[in-house]
Amino acid sequence: MSQDIEKIRSKFPILDSKIGNRPLVYLDNTATSQTPDSVVSSITHLYEHTKANVHRGVHTLSQEATDLQEATRRQVRDYLNAASEEEIIFTRGTTEAINLVAASYGGAFFRDGDEVILTVMEHHANIVPWQLLQSRHDIRLRIVDIDDSGRLDMDQYRSLFNDHTAFASFCHVSNVLGTVNPVKEMVEIAHSHGVPVLIDGAQASPHINIDVRDIGADFYAFSSHKMYGPTGVGILYGRKELLERMPPYQGGGEMIKHVSFERTTFADLPFKFEAGTPDFIDIAAFAKALEFIRETGIDFIHRHETELLQVCTSEMMKIPGMRIFGTAPDKSAVISFLVGDIHPYDLGLLLDKMGVAVRTGHHCAQPLMERLGIPGTIRASFAVYNTLEEVELFISALKRVLQMF
Ligand SMILES: Cc1ncc(COP(=O)(O)O)c(C=O)c1O
Repeated sequence: MSQDIEKIRSKFPILDSKIGNRPLVYLDNTATSQTPDSVVSSITHLYEHTKANVHRGVHTLSQEATDLQEATRRQVRDYLNAASEEEIIFTRGTTEAINLVAASYGGAFFRDGDEVILTVMEHHANIVPWQLLQSRHDIRLRIVDIDDSGRLDMDQYRSLFNDHTAFASFCHVSNVLGTVNPVKEMVEIAHSHGVPVLIDGAQASPHINIDVRDIGADFYAFSSHKMYGPTGVGILYGRKELLERMPPYQGGGEMIKHVSFERTTFADLPFKFEAGTPDFIDIAAFAKALEFIRETGIDFIHRHETELLQVCTSEMMKIPGMRIFGTAPDKSAVISFLVGDIHPYDLGLLLDKMGVAVRTGHHCAQPLMERLGIPGTIRASFAVYNTLEEVELFISALKRVLQMF
């Protein structure tokens, strides 16, 4: 194990866990990544020393809590290269961020007959919020297909735009196929038709450099818990000009200027979209996760994960009956696979007995499973703390388990 990775691993106590009497090999990072001790101790410290509600009190603790929350907002702005903090909205996760845009933007601006472009590789979080709108507006979802390697059919994407297209929403990186979509080009195409775009960045933000202004994204959504951060925190980046036009998503405290029974006026951005007490402890601690990524280096993270992906893929391909779903040249460190006709659940359960944590099932992407003609897959996914030794353990566990069938 390289010294760099050994040092990184020492920050994640959970990685020393045993499953039975075997060392844990945690390969379920796409679902959630583990959390370094700087984040955990920050949460403890905050509960012990600065717990007070934000934006509410003149007292010292409330000021401190508010400052910490707003410091995270600035860090997120920097992480994304957003133009201003007003464009950074705290949510509970990617799911809530997408629901916010669908309900607020779609609810206010969509008209009967409008069309929303999605892709076949979307997570349910980027499908269902748009479907929920169908009870209010007669909108139609148009779906971009993939080729055999899991790349989007860009000709079809281009051809789907027409006078009815009101919105396009797609993932930056697929949580099943690992495909990294050409989001900048996709945004350019959408904008050339005057169509705004939301990018679901849940699987990109922990792995690659994100520059929302370079991409040209109108909205960009992601979750802290997939980026070495606490649960319960998500980010919605939105272009100020659009956010200002959009009505609030939820009503309550924190998001108002003045309330009377006759009329309520709303707070300025970003608070207009942050009703109620936010998860201010976890938001503050998320700053430590961003610091961890910055100190480690997103380029280092990407290079290391790509090496793991390549070594693991080539070893897996030597196994008879192996089928890997998602072989696009530009691919993130996710391997979804099946072996022969073995049910993913059975394989996943036996791998767990060997200490290897993988995901099995449809991965909240049932339309993609239907497109691939399979009920589900086994999915192994990497983070920066995974090692080549763990890849070896995984491969040998897989081979041993396969002998049982
Ligand atoms: C691509 C993608 N979008 C959205 C989500 C939903 O994220 P969350 O459950 O954190 O809201 C996930 C989670 O796995 C995901 O992989």
